[in-house]
Amino acid sequence: MEMKISPSLLAADFARLGEELKEIEAAGADMLHLDVMDGVFVPNISFGMPVIASLRKVSRLFFDVHIMIVDPIRYIDGLAKAGADGITFHVEAAEDVGAVIERIKDHGLKAGLTLRPGTPVEKVLPWLPRLDILLVMTVEPGFGGQSFMAGMMDKVSAIRREARRLGREDLLIQVDGGVDRDTAAACGRAGANCLVAGSAIFGKADYAAQVAAIRAAAAGA
Ligand code: DX5
Ligand code: ZN
Repeated sequence: MEMKISPSLLAADFARLGEELKEIEAAGADMLHLDVMDGVFVPNISFGMPVIASLRKVSRLFFDVHIMIVDPIRYIDGLAKAGADGITFHVEAAEDVGAVIERIKDHGLKAGLTLRPGTPVEKVLPWLPRLDILLVMTVEPGFGGQSFMAGMMDKVSAIRREARRLGREDLLIQVDGGVDRDTAAACGRAGANCLVAGSAIFGKADYAAQVAAIRAAAAGA
């Protein structure tokens, strides 16, 4: 199975965002992961619509926006306008999950759902038929550079089984948090087809080498 790599901009040098973006595109990234945090759903604040809109002007990469904000429906229109291609929100943060999915799709964007490590996979599985992306968090959301929780691979396997059962091989099954060349293999084995990685790529000497190493490790090379 082809493994897509979505580098997380959270680990980039924010003083050089435009250059970082060019470098990551040239490194063979399949998409760009953009972590939007509100300081309420998670104890951290990152960046929002103005930054995404500026980056949109200089990149054609798929913008894979992961929102860690309460009541996410309030920001779907703004994120669509800013240039998101896909929006992934937290099941714990939305009062009406179906309404948020529909709002994302109304804009013609890919709809994604995710869950905190402590949330059982059963909370997201029923939504699978209406989703394009299902993201499994392997760290507590809010910060980059944390350790990978291998115990979350059972969730990835459960999602892969359900996707197979429903004939949804097109579903993007993402893993986010602590992904590097050592932890990527477990993700691949469990059935993920898209890996988010921040600190394992940005800030390193050679982005292309990091992207390739994670991709190869995931394929069991
Ligand atoms: C955490 C974010 C992640 C984070 C991953 O809340 O969702 O996308 O940037 O960073 P690393 O790869 O360093 O764990
Ligand atoms: Zn993320």
